[in-house]
Amino acid sequence: MHAPHDHSHDHSHDRGRSHAHAHSHDAASVRTIELDTIIHAAFLADVTTWLRSRVGDLAVRRVLDVGSGTGAGTVALAEQFPDAEVIAADVSDVMLERVRSLAAERGLATRISTEKADIAADVTRLGRFDLAWASASLHEADDPDRAFENLFAALRPGGLLTVVEMDGPPRVLPLELADLEERLHAAFEPVRQGNAYHLDWSAPLARAGFELETLRTVAIEETVDGHGPAGEFATLFLTRMMSAAASQLSAPDAAQLTALLGDGPDSLRRRSDLRLRGSRSVWLARRPEQRPRPRWTPP
Ligand SMILES: C[S@@+](CC[C@H](N)C(=O)[O-])C[C@H]1O[C@@H](n2cnc3c(N)ncnc32)[C@H](O)[C@@H]1O
Repeated sequence: MHAPHDHSHDHSHDRGRSHAHAHSHDAASVRTIELDTIIHAAFLADVTTWLRSRVGDLAVRRVLDVGSGTGAGTVALAEQFPDAEVIAADVSDVMLERVRSLAAERGLATRISTEKADIAADVTRLGRFDLAWASASLHEADDPDRAFENLFAALRPGGLLTVVEMDGPPRVLPLELADLEERLHAAFEPVRQGNAYHLDWSAPLARAGFELETLRTVAIEETVDGHGPAGEFATLFLTRMMSAAASQLSAPDAAQLTALLGDGPDSLRRRSDLRLRGSRSVWLARRPEQRPRPRWTPP
């Protein structure tokens, strides 16, 4: 998930690409990423179940979750592939700590381990994998081509890579407030940093040597209760956007959003008609089996 997050650049590999992201995750952005996975649990279950149906007779013993964030994907993969060890790799220590606690909480600590590693740099030191999973993380890599080359090298021939990205920022407000939400997104767009949406990884996958098996777009459309994690997510997410875009909003819009994001009677955390809307793209690609070299025949 792409929390509208802090872009103070502390990333040592930041080579100034327009979409280079910082990895200084403050508590609110870590929580926003975690809440995103909670409210999109059905999506994650759908995609990991589908992935299991696609592996065929590939023996899945080692799985890499790269850019694991708080570990929802790591745990889902460990549950789908019960014979596998799953390694969560991330550049952020804070995230890796969250993965360890979640793994322990779910009784999966013996099969889940964590490694501090960068997709675009040293991830290949983690050895060979049967499956690799990169959800909402490749758009943060400074050098996506290098990241895909590394993922290719990290997979054994015949191994599968799944890449997930959001197609745009999620919408969360009740449908009757959809126009207000669109105005907030429009106000935020000029100050939004990064290039996290509408990515097409098909070309970089092919350049790295992958064969694309499937590109799926999964629509998300669900009514959710604001009293729980969805309300907390919406409040954190929209508050960040609003504080960045405040000067671009009309006074009535700013006042209405302030009431929705506050604790008063109009708070969206008191409503049960939040509407989660969005879509995500899922690429499934294979490192081809080594082809036998053509036999040399004397002239
Ligand atoms: C938006 S979060 C997504 C987390 C999780 N995969 C999910 O789907 O919820 C992106 C994660 O990628 C990590 N990340 C960003 N750049 C990375 C890189 N170059 N190598 C490894 N991890 C990276 C960040 O620290 C963050 O935890």
